[in-house]
Amino acid sequence: MNAIADMPSSASTTAAATNGQAPLIEVRDLRKRFGDVEVLRGVDLEIARSEVVCIIGPSGSGKSTLLRCLAALETYDQGAVRIEGELLGYSERNGKRVRASQGEINRVRRNVGMVFQQFNLWPHMTALGNVMEALLRVRHLSRDEARRRANAMLDTVGLAHKGDAYPAKLSGGQQQRVAIARALAMEPHIMLFDEPTSALDPELVGEVLQVMKQLARDGMTMAVVTHEMGFAAQVADKVMFIDQGRIAVQGAPREVFHDTGQPRLRQFLQNYFDRNAFWARGPDDAPTP
Ligand SMILES: Nc1ncnc2c1ncn2[C@@H]1O[C@H](COP(=O)(O)OP(=O)(O)OP(=O)(O)O)[C@@H](O)[C@H]1O
Ligand SMILES: [Mg+2]
Repeated sequence: MNAIADMPSSASTTAAATNGQAPLIEVRDLRKRFGDVEVLRGVDLEIARSEVVCIIGPSGSGKSTLLRCLAALETYDQGAVRIEGELLGYSERNGKRVRASQGEINRVRRNVGMVFQQFNLWPHMTALGNVMEALLRVRHLSRDEARRRANAMLDTVGLAHKGDAYPAKLSGGQQQRVAIARALAMEPHIMLFDEPTSALDPELVGEVLQVMKQLARDGMTMAVVTHEMGFAAQVADKVMFIDQGRIAVQGAPREVFHDTGQPRLRQFLQNYFDRNAFWARGPDDAPTP
């Protein structure tokens, strides 16, 4: 279990500590229920500009629901999600809170990009067409401008040569990179990733993590739900462990991966390392994401 904690981390100073700005995302006492079940039970978090936050936790603990609330793909019942200082999902009128209009929601979340486990590309469009689509329909760019930007984004993810390929002719890793290019084309201020590599064959995971690492190096603010502990250890400024709808532990990767005082986290990490026994041999043997 210590192997990963000894791996290098980028977390020497967090972005929050260095830039002194208001957080890009601020979540206070976020609560969400599906029917009788309260899935998010009072989540508080902050993500600073250029910060990379990795979210880990058991299946069903609320990780996807949390990300979906941040992207306004899910409504929330209580608490507040603020993006660059603006309340998402609700408006405050005369001291009362009312649901915001769809137009207002779209405005507040316009700088939030999201990448899903399933890439959700349009099968009838080429890679280039997939990246151009929202630029044409949502941003109303000219075709030339949309093509120019889409090509640049495909280049960013190492797929400049695949613009004419349809998704069926691309590997899973390439499809996910197109999905990342599509999100980046909208010039987001933050990227949310929900298990972006867990639908991939193991040998394709690295190429997607590599793109995400480069994004982090370029200063993109990111929240990443992941089971890739090596990635979290190397790239995250902050790791959050969610358990039963609450953030049970958060801190720098070294702190969190060393935190054996929290029984659920200890059990979660132990299960992870039992499944990935080769990690136990030490960091020299750890695959580079
Ligand atoms: N649309 C929905 N309707 C009803 N229940 C839901 C819905 N979406 C999620 N849930 C429930 O909310 C809980 C949290 O789900 P969520 O998908 O956020 O978990 P997760 O941490 O992302 O899990 P996993 O690691 O398996 O992806 C689960 O019990 C799930 O069954
Ligand atoms: Mg999930």
